[in-house]
Amino acid sequence: MIVDWDIEAAEKGGYPHFMLKEIHEQPEALQRALTGRVRDGALHLSELERMEHAGLLNNIQRILIVACGSSYHVGMIAKYAIEKWARIPVETVTAAEFRYSDPIVGPETLCIAITQSGETADTLVGIRQARERGAPVIAVTNVVSSAITRLADAVFYLQAGPEICVVATKSFVSSVAVLYMLGLYLGQSRGRIQPEQMREFLTAMEQLPNQIRHILQQATSADDVIEPLAKRMAHISSIMFIGRGVGYPTALEGALKLKEISYIHAEGFPAGELKHGSIALLDAETPLVGIATASHVYEKVVSNIQEVRARDAHIIVVATEGDENIRQHADDIMYVPATLEVFSPLLASIPLQLFAYHIAIARGCNVDQPRNLAKSVTVE
Ligand code: G6P
Repeated sequence: MIVDWDIEAAEKGGYPHFMLKEIHEQPEALQRALTGRVRDGALHLSELERMEHAGLLNNIQRILIVACGSSYHVGMIAKYAIEKWARIPVETVTAAEFRYSDPIVGPETLCIAITQSGETADTLVGIRQARERGAPVIAVTNVVSSAITRLADAVFYLQAGPEICVVATKSFVSSVAVLYMLGLYLGQSRGRIQPEQMREFLTAMEQLPNQIRHILQQATSADDVIEPLAKRMAHISSIMFIGRGVGYPTALEGALKLKEISYIHAEGFPAGELKHGSIALLDAETPLVGIATASHVYEKVVSNIQEVRARDAHIIVVATEGDENIRQHADDIMYVPATLEVFSPLLASIPLQLFAYHIAIARGCNVDQPRNLAKSVTVE
């Protein structure tokens, strides 16, 4: 008997592409990032013990997050979370700019490098400079013993498992989760988060893997709205994504995912900034994706969406389940479960990944190895 054995098909575990497999692995990846670090209503970040003992975190006045690509968007989400919980000013910088900026850093600046591969040249050089100037460094990476780990005082491994597809999906979600935990830890150690609040945050975080599972189940059911929508949108040549607060980096990540794999021109904007120029690009041929999940700026996002609708643009919205009000403002809606505002990027990103995936497939693109891109960029 001859058995056909295709090693790549076996590695894809029944999925047609690594990207789809990795999207579906996100609940487990996220769970692994939380396991061991969130226990009995408390945070246990053993990774920070050595830094704590050495007093490296005692005099931190500001935080600088250095990253590229999707990891940069993780850093932007982390800025909101850390500033909210710890009230420490956070600056998130793209590594390629940072490394040539003669950076003002020292022992009072905690530097956090986010790099799933651990090998991105710009991030490594930037962090090396910060370290030479005395900054304590935390690295967040998915790859054990990668180059970034040798430049860091503490290393957080994502434990997301290998990510074969060039674009980040599960490493993005796991990085966001690790940064949330870091933010909560800093908030707690600064006395800004009381035990009762901490339990509330951690309980909400522990629900996220199941909530992602719910989105994925919905997307594979007969009620799926994402794939049919993606097929209808496959012909477009340009699309805008808008959001406010944590919805803004969510919009940027949604746009990046789409352009990386479908080669459609996609841009993300802070919703309130649209009217200062970019709205001129909108017309009936340019759809808009609005991140309108429940938040303190929900009404503001809706009013920005209304401005755009007046230009005849097709409106797609990511909204919170149960939000019926949004129906009057949107042509298509991708619903996600309710969570705390700060955690909403983790859920809102999932339909956007699927949206990008299905558009790219409908256009016949190679989603796992998009043109001109590499999984880790080890050159400048
Ligand atoms: C490359 C990849 C992106 C990734 C970026 C940063 O450009 O194509 O998907 O987000 O590198 O990678 P890193 O390994 O540093 O997170």
